[in-house]
Amino acid sequence: MQLEGKVAVVTGGSLGIGAGIVRRLAAEGAAVTLDYFSHRDAADTIAAEITSAGGKAQVVQADVSQVADVQRLIAQAVSAYGRLDILVNNAGVEQPTPFEFVTEQQWDHQIAVDLKGAFFAAQAAWRQFIAQGGGGAIINISSVHEELPMVGNSVYCAAKGGLRMLTRTLANELAKHNVRIVNIGPGAIATPINAATLNDPARKAALLGEIPLARIGTPGDIANAVVWLATDQASYVTGTTLFVDGGLMIYAGSL
Ligand SMILES: NC(=O)c1ccc[n+]([C@@H]2O[C@H](COP(=O)([O-])OP(=O)(O)OC[C@H]3O[C@@H](n4cnc5c(N)ncnc54)[C@H](O)[C@@H]3O)[C@@H](O)[C@H]2O)c1
Repeated sequence: MQLEGKVAVVTGGSLGIGAGIVRRLAAEGAAVTLDYFSHRDAADTIAAEITSAGGKAQVVQADVSQVADVQRLIAQAVSAYGRLDILVNNAGVEQPTPFEFVTEQQWDHQIAVDLKGAFFAAQAAWRQFIAQGGGGAIINISSVHEELPMVGNSVYCAAKGGLRMLTRTLANELAKHNVRIVNIGPGAIATPINAATLNDPARKAALLGEIPLARIGTPGDIANAVVWLATDQASYVTGTTLFVDGGLMIYAGSL
């Protein structure tokens, strides 16, 4: 097990990619605090699976758009397991809407969950890392859309683009205490967030045509990258983005 004795927090950990990350971190020996926003049953089921297999997991409800909630989330992880080593900012929302119809509420909500939430969770984790000493890792689940424009999804792209610069900037500021911060940029992963595309055969076929490895990714593909970035094997990696996208970012057309 690669993360024995480590303590992790995963936001939005009850569904999709977050659930896959929680399961993998726990399987590698980490004690995981699993934040959920809306699916308590799913969160409890994952935590029960982990504890019945001999692992450590607790469930905490927190809305990452609320600064007090993310501070409480980190505090509860430390209270239960005595320290913090890994923060995974996974929670995210996406409300594709043509630019002319985007409302102030849509802007505020997506920026608050996708960017502000990650910022203040990182700040709370950073304070704990300094207090305990010894470094730490912050892993943000960004998107290929931190770099790749997407028509009709301007707010999501702005939020993930913001996350890109946040990581690059903070990596400089956090390095002095051996705290690393890295983004993972998933491509198309089979989860509820993009069910509309994946359930539409024509849209799914068009998407597959732009993925050199010609398959939709799984939460496990992202979780594998999280585990590697959380271990000392990635101790020289900070301030960058690892795209886990089957080659979507470098798609250059088909023969
Ligand atoms: N699925 C993909 O193809 C894909 C691609 C690129 C990036 N991503 C990113 O991966 C992350 C996970 O997405 P997913 O595909 O698993 O989607 P999902 O909708 O299945 O999961 C999103 C999670 O975020 C949680 N969440 C939403 N609002 C929250 C809030 N206010 N506070 C706390 N948690 C909240 C949800 O409850 C859920 O657990 C997101 O940041 C998303 O932008 C996903």
